[in-house]
Amino acid sequence: MSLLRTCIGNLELERPGMVASGIMDETGDSMMRMIKLGAGAVVTKSVGSVKRDGHVNPSFIEFPFGYLNAMGLPNPGIDDFKDEMMIATKAGTIIASVFASSPKEFSSLAERMEIFGASAVELNLSCPHAKGYGIEMGTDVKMVHKIVSTVKNTVKIPVYAKLTPNTHILADIGKAVQDAGGDAVVAINTLKAMSISPEFAMPVLSNRFGGLSGPALRPIGVRAIYDLRSALEIPLIGVGGICSWRDAAEYIMAGASAFQVGSAIASDINIFKKINKGLECFMKEFGYSSIEKMVGAAHE
Ligand SMILES: Cc1cc2nc3c(=O)[nH]c(=O)nc-3n(C[C@H](O)[C@H](O)[C@H](O)COP(=O)(O)O)c2cc1C
Repeated sequence: MSLLRTCIGNLELERPGMVASGIMDETGDSMMRMIKLGAGAVVTKSVGSVKRDGHVNPSFIEFPFGYLNAMGLPNPGIDDFKDEMMIATKAGTIIASVFASSPKEFSSLAERMEIFGASAVELNLSCPHAKGYGIEMGTDVKMVHKIVSTVKNTVKIPVYAKLTPNTHILADIGKAVQDAGGDAVVAINTLKAMSISPEFAMPVLSNRFGGLSGPALRPIGVRAIYDLRSALEIPLIGVGGICSWRDAAEYIMAGASAFQVGSAIASDINIFKKINKGLECFMKEFGYSSIEKMVGAAHE
């Protein structure tokens, strides 16, 4: 049995690292490529009911410590995403990320993704830069409960909720996901942020604010997973600033059964191979016989 095998409830993965929503996951071919390059699963770009162009440029800024983006959830719409899913699901485990503005719309998207062969659905309750979506719903405990329970009543595949760090009630939101029957919590999405050009005396992003990702986010994500592990029983998936096996190990020891990598893929397409190798070496050296044995180790 592979040392890296992990389980998120009933979903078994040969490797614990997944591609995070939004990076190298817009086409069937790019998702297939990431599976071949060592990802244990791929989370799709968040898909909505209809095509969206997203925000106009500038929508992406690079810093020495990460990225600031306000893509604005560009996507082709659920109907046109079917063909990409057909290609990707042949290659491996695909988790379908969806965004919507009501519980009913979330459940109808999840239903379609289940038909398209998704192994699980990830509800984007956390985008910080699309009006009417994401954090506007994902910081309302009652709304989160309603969305998750409505989707759970509609699909048989596992339902994950991706949460935002832009709140002081993260554990309460996590509890709402658990109480509604959610199968796992994914944390965290990007942190709402902005940058201003002194020369032009105006915000750099056309949307004015966006979401910060990359290394600067990691300690916030690790803390979020640690807090959620203390409050919840359902599995957790950690995401935010993972660039190496050490970063992944931090999230696992904070309480995550699996992890996702986003920004780091942009600078290193072979990141999963390197993380897998490093994690395996660490586990052998420190006597961890499975990922499960490492999960939450920092709490003991
Ligand atoms: C360019 C870009 C696009 C993203 N698009 C999505 C998205 O569509 N849905 C979503 O849930 N998260 C999206 N994210 C957030 C990532 O999935 C992830 O939660 C975040 O970037 C933190 O992980 P990282 O530091 O490894 O990038 C996006 C991030 C970036 C940088």
